[in-house]
Amino acid sequence: MCAKQVKKAEKEVQTTGHSWDGIEEYDNPMPRWWVWVFYACIVWGIGYSIAYPAWPLIHGATQGLLGPTLRTEVVAEIARFDEANAPIKAKLNAADLAAIPGNDELKTYAISAGASVFKNNCAQCHGSGAAGVQGKGYPNLLDNDWLWGGDMEAIHTTIAHGIRNTTDGDARYSQMPSFGKDGILEKAQIDDVVEHVLQISGQDHDAAMAEAGATVFAENCAACHGDAGMGNRDFGAPNLTDAIWLYGGDRKTLVQTVTYSRFGVMPAWNVRLSEDEIRSVATYVHSLGGGE
Ligand code: HEC
Ligand code: HEC
Repeated sequence: MCAKQVKKAEKEVQTTGHSWDGIEEYDNPMPRWWVWVFYACIVWGIGYSIAYPAWPLIHGATQGLLGPTLRTEVVAEIARFDEANAPIKAKLNAADLAAIPGNDELKTYAISAGASVFKNNCAQCHGSGAAGVQGKGYPNLLDNDWLWGGDMEAIHTTIAHGIRNTTDGDARYSQMPSFGKDGILEKAQIDDVVEHVLQISGQDHDAAMAEAGATVFAENCAACHGDAGMGNRDFGAPNLTDAIWLYGGDRKTLVQTVTYSRFGVMPAWNVRLSEDEIRSVATYVHSLGGGE
């Protein structure tokens, strides 16, 4: 009985004539509901492309009768914020740099704006918490140890013009000689002066070598690092007596630094950031703990 019914159904429906391994394809019409949904989609699609930006043109696209898109809304929103912030930005730009941290209104704005400038532009090198990323040579900005100076004026100059870059003529610049590579010091003299640096930074050292190294230091290093090795901000020469190291304070790293020198580079930001953004991020860095 059952088999008979199936046979009958087969007879009523045409096949497409295709056959694969004996399997034939019925030529059934699409279900009615499917066809209606299909037509409805076409109508909806035409309506949508009239109502909203859709058809590509040579420059841009048709704007659509209902116009605004999320993108135009964002642009309008940003313009609204810029307009609202224009007065305080003007005040920030007109203020004496040193006075900004003492002015509650400017400081509050600058720190919040500066924090986002920092996240977008500085964190990749200085770490998101400004504590310096793991790569050597990127200074921690949270401490009181400044290579080039930690007052508002100095921080602003460092950020605006950068350090040892080739693009800004006013970039901070200095270069420690490569004492080993350029044959300025003998290997033994380098070993001695490294013992001296270990000594003044309070680490284990060979006393006799350190004493010989003191002379090497006075003749070759003191001009930049100071007689006592306390550093000199005019040259961005680090203090060698503290436990804060840019590249490392162990014997092996010190030998490498003195032999090959170092050349930390930071880009200039005055070509990428506006003056109010530079002032904001300078205030933010100044506020992080080590501002002078
Ligand atoms: C491409 C990596 C890089 C980026 C991005 C970068 N810096 Fe630097 N920055 C450095 C390096 C390297 C130094 C240390 C240079 C040296 O050896 O003197 C430095 C030094 C500094 C100093 C000097 C610290 C001191 O002790 O005097 C400040 C301040 C500073 N950066 C702030 C910023 C701010 C703010 C931004 C974002 C607008 C930024 N940096 C983005 C690499 C970077
Ligand atoms: C012309 C100036 C100059 C002279 C001379 C000089 N240095 Fe430097 N030194 C620097 C500067 C600038 C830096 C920082 C380089 C950088 O930030 O990339 C530095 C960095 C260092 C560091 C790395 C410190 C750290 O925190 O990792 C050590 C160590 C050092 N110098 C030791 C010496 C010794 C030892 C001598 C003498 C043999 C010497 N320097 C001579 C300018 C000088």
